[in-house]
Amino acid sequence: MKCCILMGSPRKSGNTYQLLTPFVEELDLNQVKYDFVWLYDKHIEPCTACRRCQKDWTVFGCRYNDDMQEIFDKVLDSDVIVLATPIYSWYCTPPMKSLLDRLVYGMNKYYGDEKGPSIWKGKKLAVITTCGYRTEKGADLFEEGIKRYCAHSQLNYLGMLSERDLGYKTEFMSDDKAEHARSFARKLIDNEV
Ligand SMILES: Cc1cc2nc3c(=O)[nH]c(=O)nc-3n(C[C@H](O)[C@H](O)[C@H](O)COP(=O)(O)O)c2cc1C
Repeated sequence: MKCCILMGSPRKSGNTYQLLTPFVEELDLNQVKYDFVWLYDKHIEPCTACRRCQKDWTVFGCRYNDDMQEIFDKVLDSDVIVLATPIYSWYCTPPMKSLLDRLVYGMNKYYGDEKGPSIWKGKKLAVITTCGYRTEKGADLFEEGIKRYCAHSQLNYLGMLSERDLGYKTEFMSDDKAEHARSFARKLIDNEV
């Protein structure tokens, strides 16, 4: 099993990173290989629906020469994609939204003159998120969007780990949250989410 962790938080020591730390430690403990991509360090243009990517069904084929080709290759090389993001305005952060749009076109060759394949069909996808509201009111819309994104793209949605942030004056991490993250990693490894 190989994971591709796409990290959408702008804060290098923020809540989402703190939650990812025990998750990644558990992957290491189980000798799971992974790529870790900080999306805010990458240049990711937003999709403009030019549909250049629909011409050749074997490649990404995007007209932009930014960092998405490298990320596309890492995603194709993985079995499990992990989207890690703080919730911003009830969805993900801007670089992750750009990435999701670029992948939904570049990977799904559905939008040309003839309908083509999903070239990432069958991959698994999981979500790790942190938010200010309770999960049911903070991360529910993002999770629903991602479930539909997976169904549309023929990916297998594995589930979400979501933890609440009680504000800047409160310590975010706790032993419970760290254990949830480790247990989520074990479930992904055992495919039991
Ligand atoms: C611009 C902005 C928008 C936010 N929007 C939401 C939101 O819609 N719902 C929510 O529950 N929390 C929201 N939050 C709270 C963050 O999701 C929460 O503090 C998160 O843990 C921050 O993660 P980080 O430390 O990795 O950046 C928002 C925070 C910011 C800075």
